[in-house]
Amino acid sequence: MSPSIAFAKGDGAYLWDHNGKRYLDFHAAFGPYLLGHNNREINDAVVQTMNSGSSLYGSGPTELETELAQILCENIDHIEKATMLNTGSEATALAIKLSRAVTSRDHFIVMQGGYNGNSDELACNVFNQLDEIGPRVSPGEYPIRPLGSGTVIQKQKLVHIVNYNDLASVKFICEKYPIAAVITEPVLQNIGVVRPHEGYLAGLRKLADEMGFLLILDEVKTGFRHSFGGYAELCNVAPDLVTYGKAIANGFPISVLGGKAEFMDVIASEDLSKRPLLAGTYNGHPAAVSAAIATLKILKSRGKEIYARLDRLGKLAEDGMNNAFRSKGIEASTARLGSAFSFYFMDHAPSDFHDLLTNHDFTLDVKVRKALIQKGIYFIPLATKQCSVSTSHTVDDIEEMVERFEECLVS
Ligand SMILES: Cc1ncc(COP(=O)(O)O)c(C=O)c1O
Repeated sequence: MSPSIAFAKGDGAYLWDHNGKRYLDFHAAFGPYLLGHNNREINDAVVQTMNSGSSLYGSGPTELETELAQILCENIDHIEKATMLNTGSEATALAIKLSRAVTSRDHFIVMQGGYNGNSDELACNVFNQLDEIGPRVSPGEYPIRPLGSGTVIQKQKLVHIVNYNDLASVKFICEKYPIAAVITEPVLQNIGVVRPHEGYLAGLRKLADEMGFLLILDEVKTGFRHSFGGYAELCNVAPDLVTYGKAIANGFPISVLGGKAEFMDVIASEDLSKRPLLAGTYNGHPAAVSAAIATLKILKSRGKEIYARLDRLGKLAEDGMNNAFRSKGIEASTARLGSAFSFYFMDHAPSDFHDLLTNHDFTLDVKVRKALIQKGIYFIPLATKQCSVSTSHTVDDIEEMVERFEECLVS
């Protein structure tokens, strides 16, 4: 990635590099910083926990883990049980293992253009070139394209890649293979903001019930960014399993796998042959768990006002970018969900990766991001990546970003 900047400090909406240059941050470290960098309330909670004598015991549940699980189970309808891990990738990998253990099936479906973590089978088909995946396929599947080398290809025969927003392809694959799970981000936020069509997620729920696979909503990026109950709450579709990470602890390393008790209980099955392996030295680390508890307490008590403010700031950013495109006479579009927004050099917001691949100008996208970075506005210099607003951003910050954005557009 270029430029590759060595950052030395983060505070609120700002980052500083090792030379002391300040940047207004819209990257948010790929999403966690909903409440701003180095949020004092959360830092204080972590320091207090560690100074109180809490440690990592590596044996048995702790009061902190129980408190976090209770907050989740009491406030999110589709979570009856939850367990804690360190990264989103660990949570999604466990979700897949659990779906296989529950259904005694091996195959699963992922979305072309979705990202669900770095485990061997899940790390595939995010940023592909057209010649790697070929023409649009529907109903049907795309060839598997691992993200990086060193992946055992035989294992990937069990993974099926379909278009997002394409129920016909999911049904088609389910009729051909014994599918344990469909895993998807409810909104594809690793290629900007690609929203579900009306009825799509409810359609996945219905297919899961008809075909007997588990619906795993990967809310590592959408969870807590859009509402306390994630996107599942907003669209009123209950997953069988759900994964969280990122914003759940505002930048501290923790992830959660939660869901229906009948499935989660298999993790602790008395019949050892049925249990998927759940292990991790740092699972439930008190620093990360107390950061999550502090974050969720803030979102619970002030959520209404926080999400409303984030939505206003997000809209200001989106409207400003659209005005900039109009004033420069550039054909482009924006897509947004609350505090997450993105821009595309194409005449409509994409509905899946293939649409994006055939219409978006990826080179111009990166060029604009690099020009913005030079002007002290940090958008990650990777095409289509989502931008995020935090509660630390002000109206002035958004207006400054929009002004610089317009300067960087070349008509
Ligand atoms: C939707 C989604 N799932 C899973 C992951 C993996 O999370 P982590 O990087 O914490 O392993 C990510 C990370 O970007 C993500 O966006």
